[in-house]
Amino acid sequence: MVLAGIRSETALTGAAEPFTAEDAAAGIFRVHRRAYRDPSVFAAERDRIWGRCWTYLGHETEVAEPGDYLVRTLGGRELIFLRDVHGQVRAFLNSCPHRGTAVCREPAGNARRFRCFYHAWTFDTEGRLVGLPSPEAYPGDDTFRDRLGLRPVPRLEVAHGFVFVCFDPDASSLADYLGDAAFYLGLVADHSDAGMRVVPGLQQYRSRANWKLGVENAMDGYHFGPSHITFLEYLKRTGFTTSDSGGRGRPLGNGHVVGIQNGHSGRIGFDWEPRFGEAERGRIEENRARLFARMDGERASLIADYSRTVFVFPNLLLFDIEGISIRQLEPVAPDLTDIRALALAPADEPPEALDLRLKTLVSFIGPGGLATPDDLEAQEAIQRAIAATAGDTRPGVDWNDVSRGMATDAAGDDVRTIDEGRVRAFWRHWASLMEDPEGA
Ligand code: FES
Repeated sequence: MVLAGIRSETALTGAAEPFTAEDAAAGIFRVHRRAYRDPSVFAAERDRIWGRCWTYLGHETEVAEPGDYLVRTLGGRELIFLRDVHGQVRAFLNSCPHRGTAVCREPAGNARRFRCFYHAWTFDTEGRLVGLPSPEAYPGDDTFRDRLGLRPVPRLEVAHGFVFVCFDPDASSLADYLGDAAFYLGLVADHSDAGMRVVPGLQQYRSRANWKLGVENAMDGYHFGPSHITFLEYLKRTGFTTSDSGGRGRPLGNGHVVGIQNGHSGRIGFDWEPRFGEAERGRIEENRARLFARMDGERASLIADYSRTVFVFPNLLLFDIEGISIRQLEPVAPDLTDIRALALAPADEPPEALDLRLKTLVSFIGPGGLATPDDLEAQEAIQRAIAATAGDTRPGVDWNDVSRGMATDAAGDDVRTIDEGRVRAFWRHWASLMEDPEGA
């Protein structure tokens, strides 16, 4: 039902009303709230963003051995992510080319063959149709097998162990897409000379909010003090100290952004602080010495002395903070998002240090930690309020304001993490994809 004077939300871009409104001279940046709630926007994102951008699938160490596989949904498409028997990482649609059934019904495992339960077609790890009942019903030259293999994702490339896929066969290379963001993925990969691995185990949880609110939250240093007061009080009680002098952020192109903090105490592996206990001090000094011996001092210092939050558009959040956490955003509905959280650690980390790493991670940004429940509460509260202002055409009511710092970072290439410049960088890119007339 459309009430008198209240606009329908069925149009994608709303003709006269774009998704974002920016006035650099006045220092104003706004986002129209339909971007977070409109089903037609969500449907368009499936095509314009999840169908065309490179998206993060997983880390190559999640499928470390030949035959390792896992099923992962990405932009609504269920995929089999695997390492074939020859060691190559691949991704296929988890849909049988016969009549469409999900071929792989286990969430993860190791296999040499995948057999569809419906009519027992069988595929190898390279996706070839290698077996089926009564093959004589098909042409005898076996050419039918060539056209009935598992459907591979059109593009798959790996950057520093991070596996990305793209459903647009004509997209530019992953290196072009990542641009400067690749540098920050490389810093994480360089934490250890033994390489990095995803620690087995997944934390998956759900937010009753739009996926873009999750991106905003991670790129927003402004909320930290007010929202995470419980955490800050806990730090005070436990003697945690930080000499953080204020972080800087930088848009990295294509909607990717980074926020960098210095003097961030308590980085697992590199930065001792009292709650870790004396036993950890020696290991940390050793780690630092190995790092500085392995690379030039500037790069080693970037890894050891600074923490980072990196966002790779549209779905990878990489928290290189006390520990290292990968968060992957999976939109389920306009107001529903699945979040997958995994820990990344040096491949040779001793059990005691790994234990400390995981405890530190879950106590802060785990779904039951001291930060994430606050963040989810904020995002879900926003989503409820945004639903309530749908159709309200009074000036400004149905818009969010993202203007903080506009006066000082209008150029956009160096922003304070406590301002909203990183959030604006995300929105500018998102809007450019969604409003592109060529994209329709
Ligand atoms: S649908 Fe898979 S074998 Fe028929």
